[in-house]
Formats: sequence, structure tokens, C-alpha cells
Amino acid sequence: MGSYLPHRAPLTVTPSSASDSMTADRTIVGASDVLKYVMYRVEQVAATSASVLLLGETGTGKELIARAIHNESPRRHKKFVVVNCGALPPTLIESELFGRERGAFTGAHNSQAGRFELADGGTIFLDEIGELPLELQPKLLRVLQEGQVERLGGVRTVQTDVRIIAATNRNLVDDVRSGKFRQDLFYRLNVFPITLPALRERRDDLPALLHHFCDRLGRQLGRPIDRIASGSLEALQRYDWPGNIRELENVIQQAVILSRNGVLDLSDFAGEGIHRDTPPVPEDLYSLADVQRAHIQRVLQSTHWRIEGATGAAKILGLCPSTLRTRMRKLGISRPATGPVAVVPVQPVSTPHSWSRSSTTRLGAAAS
Ligand SMILES: Nc1ncnc2c1ncn2[C@@H]1O[C@H](COP(=O)(O)OP(=O)(O)OP(=O)(O)O)[C@@H](O)[C@H]1O
Ligand SMILES: [Mg+2]
Repeated sequence: MGSYLPHRAPLTVTPSSASDSMTADRTIVGASDVLKYVMYRVEQVAATSASVLLLGETGTGKELIARAIHNESPRRHKKFVVVNCGALPPTLIESELFGRERGAFTGAHNSQAGRFELADGGTIFLDEIGELPLELQPKLLRVLQEGQVERLGGVRTVQTDVRIIAATNRNLVDDVRSGKFRQDLFYRLNVFPITLPALRERRDDLPALLHHFCDRLGRQLGRPIDRIASGSLEALQRYDWPGNIRELENVIQQAVILSRNGVLDLSDFAGEGIHRDTPPVPEDLYSLADVQRAHIQRVLQSTHWRIEGATGAAKILGLCPSTLRTRMRKLGISRPATGPVAVVPVQPVSTPHSWSRSSTTRLGAAAS
């Protein structure tokens, strides 16, 4: 029995002053050196108002870290406003970010504050900053430089005090080189870069993450997990996780939903999701014994059950007659007593999937 899921809460690196609601869903799990370095950078910058640029592949925890920085900063009692620059239509981004006055454009029936104004005193998180249209980049640069926002269709400027955290999974240096991203804006954002490691670079954290997600998702989905089938962690460790922690979370969520009797089984996981709704063996696959039985019967039928001689079944099958007889006994092949001989169709192998394995690892107490 493996001992990889000890009876204790997952190792966590939780910002010290985090509120309960934050630790409930936003626990940062892991104790690998690369994650500790990220948290050290978070600690260094949180207390300041410096802009932070979070870099890393999709699903590595950029938003989680952005919130941790805000919650560790003196701005924690003010708003943390998220803007996904990749999700808003280009025509809306400008009024969303900077606000608008009544009549600024067709359909603008009311004045509306932009997200910068809403975040005054707090933090704005500009997610997917690499997707910000080129024509809006100078306007953002101006806000970053002067803290001044001008609503669309407005005449006055509003002074704001907003801390900027931007994130991207793109290579902004390449985008600057190819002219997709303004160099001056890049320098302005890249004051304090923090790179989040890919999950495959912090495999040491997999046991704690597995434990954490089993515990949290088991409770959330009403399917508490108390044991993990042996081989599950090893299967997770063999995979490269291109979708990083989000992908891991999704895989564990599926496994929790499919769990039986509190046992989570990921021992078959090979990186393509869990397909437990499909039969383990396709209908047209047969065991070697079934294939041999059917083939020998077919040959025997064609030789009218003659085994020996130049036209006998042994010769056709490339066996000596005594070997063929032994094989027939083993496979339960005998000449039918009367009437024409029928070829018995081979039966698909039935190997029911085993849900509750005998060798499982018991999960520890609920995480704090
Ligand atoms: N160290 C961690 N411990 C626990 N959960 C984590 C950790 N890192 C990320 N997660 C979880 O993984 C999921 C993805 O994290 P997040 O949304 O912050 O990633 P992201 O880098 O912003 O991804 P994307 O680039 O796709 O927007 C979230 O549910 C988050 O809570
Ligand atoms: Mg994100």
C-alpha cells in the first residue's frame, strides 16, 4: 500500500493575513522550491504599490496569485477588480476600462464609471493583457503613468489610485518584437515580473494538490473521498499537464464524480480525460484464446476434421498433429457428434472495470 497521502492537511503556502473566505477557496497549495520562490516574490512586492506582471502558462495560478498579492497588500479592504482583456469585445473594452458619459456613443443612455474608477484605492487585475488591442494601449499607458482616466465622451479627467497587476500566458517580448504590443507599455507593466512554474516543473507538489482537491471537491460535490487507489499518484506524475493545475483540478473533479464507496481511482489515467462511460474493451476485441479457437475450428471444418496428412489441419496450421490435438483439448475443441459443423462465433472478452481496488490509500483528515 502506498504511503503518499499522509494523514494530514496538504502543505499550503497561505498568505498570513488572508481572510477565512480566501483560505476557503483560494488556498495556495504546494511547498516545492519553485512555488516557495513565487511566494517570496509575492511577499516582497505585496506591501508596495508597484505594478506586477504575472507570467506563466494557462492554468498555473496567475489569478490566484494576483488575489494573494491584493490580499497581502494595504489595499486589501478595497476592491479587487478583474478585467479579462481577451474576453471583452474590442468595441466594449474602452468603455469598460475607462467608463463613459451619457451619449458617448449610440446606445450609451447612462453615464457609467469604468473599472479603473471602481478599483480606486484597490487593485485592478488586467488578465490576458497580451490581447489588449493595439489602439487602446496608449490610453492604458497614460493611466499607468499619470493615474488619470478620461471617460468616453467626457471632458473631465478623474484622478485614480489603482494598483495594476497584469497577467499573460503569451510571450510579450515576442509580441513587442512583432509590433503587436507597445514596447513602452511593456516596460511600464514589467516593473516586477513573477513567473509561475508549470505543474510539470513542480511535480513534488502533486501529492499535496491531489489531497487538497480530493478533499475540497469531495465535499463540494457531496462525494467525500477517503481512499485513493494505489497507482493513482504515479499515473498523475507520469503526465505532463499542459493545462497545469486547472487541468489537474478538472481530472480530479471527474474522478470524484465517478468515485464509488469513497474510493478515488486514477490509476488508469493516461492524460486524455477519464472515459469511464465507455466499455473498457471495445466490442470487436477478443482474447488470443478466442481467436485461436475460432481459427482452428474454421480450419478443421474446411478439412472435414482431418488432422493428419498433406491436406490435414495440422499441416495448414503449421503444427505437428500431436501439438494440434493438445491445443484442441486446451481450447475445448471437439468434433461435433452429428450433423454439419458450425463455427462457433468468438465471444468478446468481458473484463468488468474494477472500481474498488483492494489496494488503496486512505485519505487523511479534512484540510483546514
Ligand atoms: N497552488 C495552487 N494551489 C491550489 N489551487 C491552485 C493553485 N494554483 C492554481 N490553482 C487553481 O487552479 C485553477 C487555475 O488557476 P488560475 O485561474 O489562477 O490560473 P491562470 O494562470 O489564471 O490560468 P489562465 O491563464 O488560463 O487564465 C484555479 O481553480 C485555482 O484555484
Ligand atoms: Mg487567469
